[in-house]
Amino acid sequence: MTGPMPAPEPLPGARLLFSLDPAVSYLNHGTLGVTPIPVQRAHQRLRDELEANPQRFFTRGLSDRIAHARTHLANFLGADPAGVTLIPNTTHGIALVLNTLRLGAGDEVVTTDHGYGSVDLAIDATGARRQVVPVPLTAGVDEIVASVRSAVHPARTKLVVIDLITSATARLFPVAAIVEALRDAGVPVLVDGAHGPGAIQLDVAALGADFFVGNLHKWAFAPRSTAILAVAPRWRTRVRPLVVSWSQAEGFPSAVEYTGTMDYTGWLAAPTGLFTLRTLGVARVQAHNSDLARYAQQVVADVLGTTAPDPAGPLPMRLVPLPVEGDDTIARRLRERISDELRAEVGINAWHGRLYLRLAANVYNRADEYERLAEGLPKLLR
Ligand SMILES: Cc1ncc(COP(=O)(O)O)c(C=O)c1O
Repeated sequence: MTGPMPAPEPLPGARLLFSLDPAVSYLNHGTLGVTPIPVQRAHQRLRDELEANPQRFFTRGLSDRIAHARTHLANFLGADPAGVTLIPNTTHGIALVLNTLRLGAGDEVVTTDHGYGSVDLAIDATGARRQVVPVPLTAGVDEIVASVRSAVHPARTKLVVIDLITSATARLFPVAAIVEALRDAGVPVLVDGAHGPGAIQLDVAALGADFFVGNLHKWAFAPRSTAILAVAPRWRTRVRPLVVSWSQAEGFPSAVEYTGTMDYTGWLAAPTGLFTLRTLGVARVQAHNSDLARYAQQVVADVLGTTAPDPAGPLPMRLVPLPVEGDDTIARRLRERISDELRAEVGINAWHGRLYLRLAANVYNRADEYERLAEGLPKLLR
């Protein structure tokens, strides 16, 4: 071990808020989220209400209840409630923006080499060309901003997609500075904030982007299939729904939100996720998670003898480079072996031909879970 960094004190009782299997170290909150028991209960109560009288649930006041949940979530994230639509996930929000911009052959979309795989696929499916900006793991704010700016050509760039917190590499990108640097170019910016809500202190409006999409079902403790798309005023009347249903005449956001007979109960239970977070203390949770992720990274990197990148900002996920080369298939196999043999769920991603372990921390985790992983990893990697 190099640094004497102590693990943070656990938040008393927080572990009891989750129904996780006690025999497994769940160190990958970032991928799918974990729903606290009070949120599961609130969600189940809403499902019970729905099943007691489906017609009444769907036809009497559902749109008001969705609007109430939407306002609650938007206010929490510092987004203008009038510019927010609820959506099932980030993937859906990205598709909505691409659909709105009607991208096609001859257009260009600027992204970075930290972008999420399925987002790249969605861009490619429009026929537009993806201009990928390489960003070294160690790049600083100025370098990132300058690289993205120089890749943008107002004549052909139709969109810039920037991740707030990158998935494979767990980096916090200087989104507000990028938006500011691109203002003179007049090219719309879409922030992929899949991991943002709840993970870090966030003021969506202050980012100044044209579009922000983010999941509430990761770090904001909402039931799965809860996300938001925040849209700047100039785009609101132009958002083109992916699914045309009964609310078209109402315009944004109802025209986007109501997609026929779908289960909307998760959205209605989402404010209970924020209530849980606030009850624990948002700042306290974020500080705990960031400190524990830093501890986790140090413990595992020390045992493996690798140098771990130190990303700017407090993040609940941190990266440990593994002494292993490989692709997504090898990454998946290793993840499954760690699950089977070490009883730990972790994130492993291939990035530029090398594997990276992504360790997440939340209030249900303890320092000894990462210590146990660190103990078992060298033998498994041999
Ligand atoms: C950066 C990024 N974008 C998009 C997504 C896709 O999110 P979802 O599967 O909820 O649509 C993820 C998922 O982890 C992500 O990390």
